[in-house]
Amino acid sequence: NNPPWPAYRGYHEYSFAHATMGVRLPTILGKAIDDTVRTLNEQSDEEKIIDLVKCIERMDELMTDLSGNAKLRPIIDDNEADVALWNKEIAKYFQGKDFMNAPWLFAEAYKYRRLHEAFSVSKFWQDYDVFYRQKCDTFSRSSDAVFELSMRFAEPFTLAANLSDGERLEAERLMFLELTQVCLWGNSTDLSLLINMTEEQIKALQSTGGDHLAATEKNILGNHLPQLWETVRDLRAKTGGRIDFVLDNAGFELYCDCVYADFLIQSGLAKQVRFHGKRIPWFVSDVTRKDWNWLLNTMLYGQLFSNASEQERESLRRLGERWKKYEREGKWVYEQHPFWCTGYTFWELHAEAPDLFLHLSRSDLVIFKGDLNHRKLTYDCAAPASTPFDVAIGPMASAAGAPKVCSLRTIKSDVVVGLESDEIAEKLDKEEPGWKISGKYAVVLLSEGRPG
Ligand code: F6P
Ligand code: MG
Repeated sequence: NNPPWPAYRGYHEYSFAHATMGVRLPTILGKAIDDTVRTLNEQSDEEKIIDLVKCIERMDELMTDLSGNAKLRPIIDDNEADVALWNKEIAKYFQGKDFMNAPWLFAEAYKYRRLHEAFSVSKFWQDYDVFYRQKCDTFSRSSDAVFELSMRFAEPFTLAANLSDGERLEAERLMFLELTQVCLWGNSTDLSLLINMTEEQIKALQSTGGDHLAATEKNILGNHLPQLWETVRDLRAKTGGRIDFVLDNAGFELYCDCVYADFLIQSGLAKQVRFHGKRIPWFVSDVTRKDWNWLLNTMLYGQLFSNASEQERESLRRLGERWKKYEREGKWVYEQHPFWCTGYTFWELHAEAPDLFLHLSRSDLVIFKGDLNHRKLTYDCAAPASTPFDVAIGPMASAAGAPKVCSLRTIKSDVVVGLESDEIAEKLDKEEPGWKISGKYAVVLLSEGRPG
């Protein structure tokens, strides 16, 4: 039950897989080691120090394996919920494969699991997150866009009382389209690509104004926004639906996701939003429970933005308070299934994590954020750009019980599907080399699912 197109692999020199496996992953690992050394130098307890030195040694071994293109060995049994899934997959499909000739998607995920293993087998450092400092830091450098949104959305969403039903619906539609784009483009600031961004670069990526959004809509190459609105609009008939977000990055992107989810709740389009995060530090900037808690608490109690006005701080606090209230009321639910941090694509979700599939099948709409989720949905393979989205995602569209699935993704890697024609991609290949990794283009694609 695989797609007919070949999966990208590290030795494919024409693909972003090659640069990622050969250069980006060792760079990311090097920075992770630097972060841990910094933590080591802050310690005073001898037992903890010795334990952390061992973690660093295990990261060094991983570096040797990665740069020497070693064979992929099983994950050490560290009692984690996902270890059986990992070793089953390695034994079944990747016996004897190395970092460069295993499928890129698998080899890259494997690297993050091995990085976690360096800590999970320790005594004191099992939950250490080598990317945590970076994640917090980038949010603190996103002040302009953070306050632009909080100043606009701290006040509860209301529509003027004198509007007709038609006018109300139109106002809601416009707000929905705008916030869907805020949520979409919030994905351009992932940390794995933009390792050393300046504040100016962050600002340029995060501009959220209305004119800017009109201009960026033309960069959405496969655009199901109208169908997405119709789907969400119709949820109200059921007195609000359940919408799930399979999250991507922490910090600013998560903040944008929450602004969007806040609107979905306030407008009554959704009565519950469920957020799915990662159990372990993942692909540098992905959301863990700690990142989720950090965001909500820093909005309420933090002192990250020294130059902000009292009014700006207050707007952020009010948003944070409202979001925490949603959590207490069960309108927002944060969860973290182990399957999200495995090497499996979502073609295998129904078979390898049937409990999760069943859980998602009860949702009215599952929104997958970001590039990695899109690669997993599409099997990260060389499908033609005109492949319809529901064909490209296989069982996530066709298995009995498949929910409606939407991918909100800025394009940062090779796989591109859901375009009107192959020519659009061919033209960009010629005129704008690098268009598939710049994050300048995006897709908003919807699959109708298949009721069970
Ligand atoms: O290393 C490549 C990659 O896995 C790509 O999917 C993308 O370039 C990046 O890392 C992660 O992007 P995102 O955070 O949007 O999934
Ligand atoms: Mg990510």
